[in-house]
Amino acid sequence: MACYLITGIAGFIGSSLARALLSCGEQVRGVDNFSTGKRENIVEILDRIDFREADILDLDAMHNSCAGVDYVLHQAAIPSVPKSVLDPLGSNRANVDGTVNVLLAARDAKVKRVVYAASSSAYGDTPTLPKHEAMNPDPISPYAVAKLASEHYMVSFYRCYQLETVSLRYFNIFGPRQDPSSPYSGVLAKFSTAMLRGEQPTILGDGEQSRDFTFIDNAVAANLLACKAPAAQAAGQVFNVATGRRVTLHETFKSLQGITGYSGTPKYGPERDGDIKHSLADISKAAAGLGYKPTVEFEEGLRLTVEWYRKRTSDL
Ligand code: UD1
Repeated sequence: MACYLITGIAGFIGSSLARALLSCGEQVRGVDNFSTGKRENIVEILDRIDFREADILDLDAMHNSCAGVDYVLHQAAIPSVPKSVLDPLGSNRANVDGTVNVLLAARDAKVKRVVYAASSSAYGDTPTLPKHEAMNPDPISPYAVAKLASEHYMVSFYRCYQLETVSLRYFNIFGPRQDPSSPYSGVLAKFSTAMLRGEQPTILGDGEQSRDFTFIDNAVAANLLACKAPAAQAAGQVFNVATGRRVTLHETFKSLQGITGYSGTPKYGPERDGDIKHSLADISKAAAGLGYKPTVEFEEGLRLTVEWYRKRTSDL
């Protein structure tokens, strides 16, 4: 049994990782400051995890949290492109300074490996598709810059201190427990819950933008593989975590109509600042280096997600 520290454990991805690790019989410790994470995401597992309410900007708390840990899964962040456009300093603090704290604490505690939640936004709006890791990054939003800077810190800590680090560039992860209620929520969480309530979802832009939407179970699997992959293949590396297929917002809306039974039309609003048009990953590096293969396809993931929200529509 290994000990895992999950930063951002009360978030959508952090709490999903915790559940998966517990079901494998692993020991789970977690930190969260509830800035975007929610207590309800971990309430059912609180008695089985070592939870500490703490901010990753608190270096002492990170040192304490890393003591005795084998693997760190660093998910804590302010995960929003538009929020970062409004508050670049806040984004930088959480997404860069916070990461450096986690790395320092992990280095000092001699953890085996740190796996980092990097972002596909690092690629920016370059026209080449699919995006592969050898391409020059071209971040647009402050969020994308911060996530890329943290990736560089991951590599730097491997080179300078031999702390094994792996960065996983997540491509639009979605699934149960993703918060639909904030103006900065992921589009699938917002669309699914709006359409279940019979409300019109808002498409920002022309609806022809596309994403490589990735179901949560695939991201969880990638994290577990990244902990165990041989260092020669994984340490100091960056990997795309996606499905290798993209869908437009219009296609997504149509699929959701079928699943939710919503028969109305969408509304349209202005395109977002810092938004990118198309996103699609080449996942061959993760396949070769980590043994990663997406197991849940988009439509199946969408069905599972709507199912989960449907059971909770009364609370939405
Ligand atoms: C970006 C990153 C993603 C990161 C996420 C964190 C890219 C390609 N992806 O996601 O890796 O994890 O930020 O927030 O850069 N939209 C609507 N209506 C809505 C909400 C959103 O039409 O109500 C549109 C957005 O304008 C965008 C698309 O849906 O074109 C996806 O938006 P969102 O789910 O917020 O994710 P990204 O910004 O793509």
